[in-house]
Amino acid sequence: MAADTYILGTDAQERERLRRQHELWLPSARSAWHRAGLRDGWRVLDLGAGAGDCSLELARVVGPRGRVLALEQSPAYVEEARAAAGGEQLPWLEVRRHDLASDSLAPTGFDLAWCRWLAMFLPVLDPLLDLLSRSLRPGGRFVAHEYVHWETFALHPHGDAIGRFAEAAMASFRAAGGDPNVNRRLPALLAERGFCIDGLQPLPVLGRAGDPWAQWLERFVRIYGRELIRQGRWSEEQAARAEAEMSAARSAPGSYWVGPTVLEVQASAPA
Ligand SMILES: C[S@@+](CC[C@H](N)C(=O)[O-])C[C@H]1O[C@@H](n2cnc3c(N)ncnc32)[C@H](O)[C@@H]1O
Repeated sequence: MAADTYILGTDAQERERLRRQHELWLPSARSAWHRAGLRDGWRVLDLGAGAGDCSLELARVVGPRGRVLALEQSPAYVEEARAAAGGEQLPWLEVRRHDLASDSLAPTGFDLAWCRWLAMFLPVLDPLLDLLSRSLRPGGRFVAHEYVHWETFALHPHGDAIGRFAEAAMASFRAAGGDPNVNRRLPALLAERGFCIDGLQPLPVLGRAGDPWAQWLERFVRIYGRELIRQGRWSEEQAARAEAEMSAARSAPGSYWVGPTVLEVQASAPA
């Protein structure tokens, strides 16, 4: 059974952060799904689905002739995603509690598997790779949006405390067993299992003061900063310095944020 040890947690503030993050990244997700050929009637897996933001989108695309199976370990998110599927009357969207680091899955014949910001939290990737090999039909597509270069996270030119925040965040992901740069490894691991790597594309983020991308990164510093303080990796003093840097950047026209770099992986299961 899934252990609910997810490092970012599921409280209301984090849930709201995920919702806004989803709105910002939805156009990239949609174009990735389009490149993979997603269409009406497809059977889709959403891996580490959170509260189902992408699962709902996917279910709207595949329609009642299709199927979406959302797998997620956090009970609060599973409940919320189920309620949303019920509220929108999407009975072809099923949400299951599932630990992608250990549980196995029987259903087969999926046309597409999608994961975004999930693999980076997994202490082992074999269960995920096994699931992909078993569950996708021959030629079925896998699309991942995971980070490849977390070190780009920065506020330029005066974000020293933000730089230390990024180091502490990466260290915390590693200490919890994850890998913030998991997409450095994922394509090679897929290729070893006979997957064809159809495309690799970095998705860089640049945010000017006050724009939605800058707000996304500021929000992460504030919310995850509390967890880093709790873990002893960051201090109230550093948080205050980061706050001052963010405030100064908002009125400095030459300041800008760079986000951690996502790599889109497009792959196909062996025929
Ligand atoms: C940053 S959230 C991303 C949620 C969603 N994929 C999205 O893009 O909005 C990461 C999600 O992965 C889930 N997760 C982490 N480890 C997991 C595991 N071992 N098995 C299943 N889900 C997991 C978390 O509970 C959380 O919902």
